[in-house]
Amino acid sequence: MQVWAVSNQKGGVGKTTTVVTLAGLLAEVGYRVLLVDLDPHGSLTAYFRYDPDEMERSVYDLFTELPISSASVRDLILPSSHESIDLLPASTALATLERRAVGKEGMGLQVAKALRTQKEVYDFVLIDSPPVLGVLMVNALAACSHLLVPVQTEFLALKGLERMVRTIEMVNRARRNKLEFTIVPTFYDRRTQASVASLRELHRCYGELISTAVVPVDTKFRNASLKGVVPSALDAGSRGVHAYAKLLRNLLERRRQEQAHG
Ligand SMILES: Nc1ncnc2c1ncn2[C@@H]1O[C@H](COP(=O)(O)OP(=O)(O)O)[C@@H](O)[C@H]1O
Ligand SMILES: [Mg+2]
Repeated sequence: MQVWAVSNQKGGVGKTTTVVTLAGLLAEVGYRVLLVDLDPHGSLTAYFRYDPDEMERSVYDLFTELPISSASVRDLILPSSHESIDLLPASTALATLERRAVGKEGMGLQVAKALRTQKEVYDFVLIDSPPVLGVLMVNALAACSHLLVPVQTEFLALKGLERMVRTIEMVNRARRNKLEFTIVPTFYDRRTQASVASLRELHRCYGELISTAVVPVDTKFRNASLKGVVPSALDAGSRGVHAYAKLLRNLLERRRQEQAHG
């Protein structure tokens, strides 16, 4: 089982879209995928037509007295509209967690522990993380082996990225093995000067860390979310889906190389 998190301390950069699109593409080639919604807004949960205001059980339960076992975690997982994609949903109660979790020992590893109980069930876990640095983001970063950081190709977004990179550096000081990450440029529009210039700036500042797959502006993402289906099921040939397919190929190739080198 491979765990990837998608994170950026900024909303509206394409985090949830990245999770959903990659999940669809992974499921298509036969992988079993679990999606984890750690954002109190619950957009990923809502994407699959569950109401985060009404969830009786959710990822929130991992932070209560519930003993974490394979069965107790199974109980929290819901099916999605796609056969090979399951969801560990968010509930809006997650918003209260930051306050409750303060000072409690070990709260940073609850999600990692829960996922370990499911390692025979899924090939991939994709975590949608909240845009604030707190206990939930710390959980996402601690649970994953690779991090994707979507960043809008506009100048204001670059500032937010600096903050995210500092957060990753901080997390890496506490981790045994370094958390590797890939920055994924999103909302790219090659006809606009702002997009072109900020992509160039991203390359200048972050070089190799920038994904060669660049996600274009594509209205089909919104259409897919309105229908509650993964984008590749709506239109497998769209430019946006193409970009994510390239990103996925790069990530899988990288994983293959890492495994080959032990
Ligand atoms: N590449 C894209 N082109 C056009 N619209 C997009 C793209 N990526 C995401 N969107 C749309 O932009 C909105 C915000 O994206 P979302 O993935 O929810 O961002 P985040 O999770 O970072 O807040 C959504 O309505 C989504 O459908
Ligand atoms: Mg989101």
